[in-house]
Amino acid sequence: MDAIGQNEAPEQNEAASEAGPFVIVVGNEKGGAGKTTVSMHLIAALLNAGKRVGAIDLDIRQRSLSNYIDHRRLWVGQRDISMPEQIVLEPPRGQTIVERQREEADSFVNALGQLRTRNDFVVIDCPGADSYFARLGHAAADMLITPMNESFVDFDLLAKVDPETLNIVSPSIYAEKVWSCRKARAQADGGSIDWVVMRNRTSHIHAKNRQRLESALTELSKRLGFREVPGFSERVVYREMYPAGLTLLDLTDDETGPGLTMSHVAARAELAAMLAALQLPGLHVEPVDKSA
Ligand SMILES: Nc1ncnc2c1ncn2[C@@H]1O[C@H](COP(=O)(O)OP(=O)(O)O)[C@@H](O)[C@H]1O
Ligand SMILES: [Mg+2]
Repeated sequence: MDAIGQNEAPEQNEAASEAGPFVIVVGNEKGGAGKTTVSMHLIAALLNAGKRVGAIDLDIRQRSLSNYIDHRRLWVGQRDISMPEQIVLEPPRGQTIVERQREEADSFVNALGQLRTRNDFVVIDCPGADSYFARLGHAAADMLITPMNESFVDFDLLAKVDPETLNIVSPSIYAEKVWSCRKARAQADGGSIDWVVMRNRTSHIHAKNRQRLESALTELSKRLGFREVPGFSERVVYREMYPAGLTLLDLTDDETGPGLTMSHVAARAELAAMLAALQLPGLHVEPVDKSA
């Protein structure tokens, strides 16, 4: 096989998704946008709902999701928490690009195949840059969740816009990659990738800026074929439990934990709103009353 170039989807048989559990890929090509944070909260929420969850960390350099799951494992037995089934992928050792891509494809397909047999959902966290692992992940997605920060800097990861008019000039390299993975997926098994964009770390941005960003994003969603779901605000609770391998869903309001603050309750409501909007198969989401 020839090495696969940038933006090209992997070979169809490598990317093909057979019927089975629902595969959620969290990806974009920007570090720090919130992929790992979204992945771990999604995993915790699905586990909380009684689902069996498989996890793959395709960011084999930073390994943030793997570290989070390792931290979480330390609590099993001490707390009533459930674990995802994780398969850790090793960096390829081959001498040539073709050899390395072949190794990556084999280990990814093998890991996904195993997780599929035992889980209802598989959550795949991607690195913040293009890699062959990331492309394999994208091409296997039933749903692709792209977190972005609420700024025009992050808008660049989806499209180039005219700085004056905010008209869309062209899709970004990342949007083209998603397009090619969608095409490969359709050819491989007739399946489609539901592309979802969520804004992360929303805060007290100037109302006029927000309006401009919102209308540009709505326009872009039609052009690129994604839908928007409500995301997370900027809150310490989304990061404070990472070292313990926990999320705000694992906190209990008793003497063993720090207790639920207003911010925890509001964050749970945000997470529930995002889950409801994702419309995941077989998942009923109870709305959370923010004022409770
Ligand atoms: N909604 C949020 N509120 C507060 N901090 C956040 C939020 N989302 C992400 N972060 C923090 O931002 C940093 C980058 O997030 P991360 O999920 O690691 O991004 P990525 O995986 O896309 O590189 C981390 O320190 C994380 O704890
Ligand atoms: Mg990450």
